[in-house]
Order: sequence, then structure tokens, then C-alpha cells
Amino acid sequence: MELTDAIRTTGSVRAFLDQSVPDEVLYTILDDARFAPSGGNRQAWHVIIVKDERRRRALRDLYLDGWRDYVAHVLAGLVPFSPLASDEDRAAAASKRSAAIAVSKPDGFPETLDQVPVMLAICADLAALAATDRDLGRYQIAGGASIYPFVWNVLLAARARGLGGVMTTMATRNESGVREVLDIPHDQIVASIVALGHPTSQVTKLTRRTVQEFTTIDTFDGEPFTSNS
Ligand SMILES: Cc1cc2nc3c(=O)[nH]c(=O)nc-3n(C[C@H](O)[C@H](O)[C@H](O)COP(=O)(O)O)c2cc1C
Repeated sequence: MELTDAIRTTGSVRAFLDQSVPDEVLYTILDDARFAPSGGNRQAWHVIIVKDERRRRALRDLYLDGWRDYVAHVLAGLVPFSPLASDEDRAAAASKRSAAIAVSKPDGFPETLDQVPVMLAICADLAALAATDRDLGRYQIAGGASIYPFVWNVLLAARARGLGGVMTTMATRNESGVREVLDIPHDQIVASIVALGHPTSQVTKLTRRTVQEFTTIDTFDGEPFTSNS
């Protein structure tokens, strides 16, 4: 597959065939993904392949809890988990929690997360992250840039083998819970739970903003950058 095709068509897959992924294939996916970039090339990731059913169910429940918060935010008309959320926003989302539980579907992705063919918990070693914005006194984002390219590489490498998946973060809302389930030490953070498997269908068209909608010349509010700028 052409690299540009892969970039343009690797969408989230949340529905999988009842078909397992051999360990040899998973190994090759991780073997490709490890070439991701990271600050100082410190490769702070650690992957836990969650096979144990009890641990999977526990992670599903933690995910579901976060998912209900997500739905509650949507029902309240908010951007879920925005770093700029006010106390009023948080209260508005909390007031929709019961409504969010009510819209739960028994066969939905969150409700059946424990049954995905492959479940990976991807951790990051806090001591090894290059958090260049750590002293700015605002929400920090730079440290994540040393771990999510690896997560994305896992998804691209899976795609190259006819597999699909999705990076998820709902369960990380209850990081201490995830730590307890998987015996993760305190100097590690949980970046993502990734689901992988054989897709029931392959998305070919992704919905994304155009270049000129997010690119400007010289200043943030400069002229939009178009192909004939
Ligand atoms: C940082 C991050 C966190 C995400 N968390 C979740 C998640 O917890 N659950 C989920 O189903 N999808 C999650 N996604 C997938 C996004 O919903 C998806 O990338 C986006 O909606 C675009 O959808 P598409 O790939 O189908 O076009 C996450 C994606 C990213 C990059």
C-alpha cells in the first residue's frame, strides 16, 4: 500500500471479525512501531498485551466509566474533557451522567471492549519524557508527543497487515484504576488502551478539515495557505 494512501485512509476501527491475531503478527506490528520518533530518542513506551479475561473486563469497566463522562459532556453540548472547561461546564456534564448511562448499548464498542481480538495498554515512563512545556504553568502537551507517534505507528503497522484498530483514552481518566489492574508502577503513566483486530469493514474516506482551514501564512490570523498561495 502507498504511504500516502495509508495516511489518508487509516480510520478508527471499532468493530472486529471474530478472528484472532497471531502473536507472531502482533510482534511484527510492534517491531515496526518501535521506529517512532520520541524526544531525545528516549523511547519511553512500554506495551502490556492484556490477555487475561478478568483484567480485560476490569479495563472495560474503567473505560465505560470514562465513556459515560464523554457522552455526558456531549449531551451537555460541551467539548468533552477540554482543558479550558470551567466549573460550570463540569457541573453541566455531571448533571447529564444518568442520561449518558441510559443511552448505553449492550453491544456497543465500549460495552464489549473486553472482547476485542487484541488489547494493548501503552504506558509512558514519566522520567524519560521530554516535557518541554512543563514550566509554562498551563496544560501540558509536549510530553505526549513522545508517546502518541508510537501509538499511531502501531495502528499504521496494523493497517499494513490488513488489521485495524483505535487508540483510546477513556480508561485513562481513572489512571489509578488501570494501574491497579495491570500492576503499573507509579512513575509510569497510561497513555492509551489500543484495540486491534480484523475489521468488519474498511473505511476509505475520512472526514478532515482542508489544508486552508488550518494553515495560514506568517501569523496565526494570516492569509489561508492554498495550493496557489
Ligand atoms: C488522543 C486520542 C484519543 C482517542 N480516544 C478515543 C477513545 O477513548 N475511544 C474511541 O473510541 N476513540 C478514540 N479516539 C479515536 C478518535 O475518536 C478518532 O481518531 C476520530 O474521531 C477520527 O475518527 P476516524 O478515524 O473514524 O475518522 C481517540 C483518538 C485520539 C487521537
